Amino acid sequence: MDTVLAIETTNLTRRYNGLIAVNQLNLTVPRGIIFGFLGPNGAGKSTTIRMLTGLLPPTEGTARVGGFDIRTQSMEVKRCIGVAPEELGLYERLTVVEQLELVGRLYGLSSAELARRIPSLLELMGLADSADKLILDYSQGMRKKAALACALIHTPEILFLDEPFQGIDPIATKALKEVLRDMVQRRGTTVFFSTHVMELAERFCEEVGIIHKGQLLTVGGVAELRARAGLSESASLEDVFVRTVGGEAEDNALLDWLTGAEGTL
Ligand SMILES: Nc1ncnc2c1ncn2[C@@H]1O[C@H](COP(=O)(O)OP(=O)(O)OP(=O)(O)O)[C@@H](O)[C@H]1O
Ligand SMILES: [Mg+2]
Repeated sequence: MDTVLAIETTNLTRRYNGLIAVNQLNLTVPRGIIFGFLGPNGAGKSTTIRMLTGLLPPTEGTARVGGFDIRTQSMEVKRCIGVAPEELGLYERLTVVEQLELVGRLYGLSSAELARRIPSLLELMGLADSADKLILDYSQGMRKKAALACALIHTPEILFLDEPFQGIDPIATKALKEVLRDMVQRRGTTVFFSTHVMELAERFCEEVGIIHKGQLLTVGGVAELRARAGLSESASLEDVFVRTVGGEAEDNALLDWLTGAEGTL
């Protein structure tokens, strides 16, 4: 089903026992943009991504991803998305090549196509020299790169990346950003990703959304959010974030022992 919206959530809610991790989320993301999902630790970003990608059922509400309902059309949703979740979801006892072959085959890619795609993904991620190692023996950043390669192997229409740039080196970061931008511009791919890096989100995203304590506080272009927060044009996305979330740090006398303000150093 074709629709101009990549993602449309309707009162999407997730509770963990008594805690509301995502509360009545109503969010639309048009196709063909890079969308940054921002929020403090524990805000509900990963929970939202897990629900949108079929890794976790919602408690209430629903969403459409690529035009398909996540509750009733989960196979169709899975076919059109790529996901690199927070927990990565790799098989430790495989090499990255075996992992990519496995994921690629699940998506119906032929051996010839896999032979074409896998080396180029390893090159993109700087993993070519470590292709024969077990994932078990990978560093943290190498694991993240392997998970990102898995998300890309089948050329998905909609990509969900949970903190994709966290822990990967500047060379891979630059290469990945360029590839994602090209996918968006040339193929109309949609990229939905979470991050804590405000400078990156400001430069990289067409739209951002800020979630806090499970509630979506604001969505739009950075300029729009800046105006909504009552900040001047020179304000950064970091300023917007702090103003919107309400986390302005006050002079904290409780930390004088640490900061040296009590003159003990
Ligand atoms: N499996 C779980 N069981 C119970 N509570 C959970 C579980 N996963 C997440 N939570 C809680 O749900 C809330 C949202 O967590 P979530 O992982 O979605 O946050 P996040 O925005 O991704 O944070 P971070 O930036 O730290 O990754 C938090 O209060 C967290 O403690
Ligand atoms: Mg998270």
